[in-house]
Amino acid sequence: MSEEETVPFLVASKKELIEAKRTNITVGDRVIVVIHHQGVFYAMDAHCYHAGGSLINGDIEEINNKLCIVCPKHKYKISLAEGEGIYNASNPKDKDKPPCWLSKGIKQRVHKVTEVDGNIYVTLSKTPGWIESDYYQTEKGRAEMKKA
Ligand code: FES
Repeated sequence: MSEEETVPFLVASKKELIEAKRTNITVGDRVIVVIHHQGVFYAMDAHCYHAGGSLINGDIEEINNKLCIVCPKHKYKISLAEGEGIYNASNPKDKDKPPCWLSKGIKQRVHKVTEVDGNIYVTLSKTPGWIESDYYQTEKGRAEMKKA
């Protein structure tokens, strides 16, 4: 990641992004989806960690008190704030056991969103190490997977 990619990147005005609700942008060599939901902005890698599905049109649901985007491709759930993979660990053969949602850990790289003078900026995540969504973002991400 070059130094320019770790400084805040101007996305658009807050007004424009609120109207759009979701916007894909390219920052450096990554495609990021910026989401405005219930008065809060979120940014994450635009391609789902599972198989690269585009998240821009995913439904947003609250699961275990966490807002999650549901990938349209295979319905994987990803928390908006942390990029956590959330899955239903219920046993369909055990009808007495209530649904149980568990975390797979951080699977999707999320990025920082800031507002300055009515404009929205995204700063790419500096979290070290390989996160699964890196695979669908860059050649470097695919190379890093082999080392992980
Ligand atoms: Fe997103 Fe499979 S690509 S759930």
